[in-house]
Amino acid sequence: MKEALQQIRSEALTALAQAGDPQELETLRIRFLGKKGALTSQLARLGRLSPEERPVVGQLANAIRQEIDDLLKTRLTELQRAQLAERLLEETIDVTLPGQAPPLGRIHPMTRVLDEVKDIFLGMGFGVVEGPEVETTWHCFTALNTDEHHPARDRQDTFYIADDIVLRTQTSSVQIRHMLANRPPIRIISPGRVYRKDEVDATHSPMFHQIEGLVVDRGVTMGHLKHTLDTLMKAIYGAETRTRFRPHHFPYTEPSAEVDILCYMCHGAGCRVCKGEGWIELLGCGMVHPKVLSLCGIDPDVYSGFAFGIGLERITLGRFSIDDMRLLFENDMRFLAQF
Ligand code: DAH
Repeated sequence: MKEALQQIRSEALTALAQAGDPQELETLRIRFLGKKGALTSQLARLGRLSPEERPVVGQLANAIRQEIDDLLKTRLTELQRAQLAERLLEETIDVTLPGQAPPLGRIHPMTRVLDEVKDIFLGMGFGVVEGPEVETTWHCFTALNTDEHHPARDRQDTFYIADDIVLRTQTSSVQIRHMLANRPPIRIISPGRVYRKDEVDATHSPMFHQIEGLVVDRGVTMGHLKHTLDTLMKAIYGAETRTRFRPHHFPYTEPSAEVDILCYMCHGAGCRVCKGEGWIELLGCGMVHPKVLSLCGIDPDVYSGFAFGIGLERITLGRFSIDDMRLLFENDMRFLAQF
């Protein structure tokens, strides 16, 4: 039996020395010292020995158990230390390496101009409202006194979704929606996307933005309209900016006008930007047509109003002296980062 014990001892010592991780040590502990382990089953046989041999073999067995147990503990500490050292090496952080700066976005130039315009109008007591981009032909044309035969309704010019549904060609449709749902006094602007079948070039895009304005109250005159737009242009382009109102025609205003500003590049001399005109056309406007007011349930004998529609791209190009509208939509960071 002594030989068997020595055999167990040497097997255990070799195995423990070779164990590679703490789990393996645990398996070895069970194999040698566990309840059904090799050493334990030897001890169970002590009873069969003679009374003289029993204490000697018993002592030997205990010494071996102690030795294995000690070695288990030592090996466990060693392996845990080695594991820790390995992890520390793997997970080393070099705090001297330069960090990664997250790329910062910027406010798009059109958003900046729109925010400025909103500020100016909020300061004059206007509210900001929105309307749908997918619109009925009734809101977009019919209610705006634009009959079936008007060229704006032509399928060549407009994106139709169904016979009576279009991608709105102008934000003027929001005037109708707002007047149907609200009573005067009304003072709103309504910015948003509009769509037309235009070819893309330096000054055209099938999708662009307008800012609609609408004021309806007792005693509103063309003078209020001119002052409001003059205030807007001076706030955007500077106090020396000059505006010019030219007679024009829109079905939903009477009288109607187009508004130009003195060219911000050449100050009237004529240049590439104003195409030699000295003036740049910025928007359409007028006094809301009595028919439109009536249709929205507002009595034109009591109330009058003015309305306007400005192209946001146009204002932005001028504000930052950008000479090609496509730059606003391409979202090239090298361009956008300049604002
Ligand atoms: N809807 C016109 C356009 O798209 C702009 C416009 C002109 C808006 C006169 C108005 C207005 O509100 O009264 O060209």
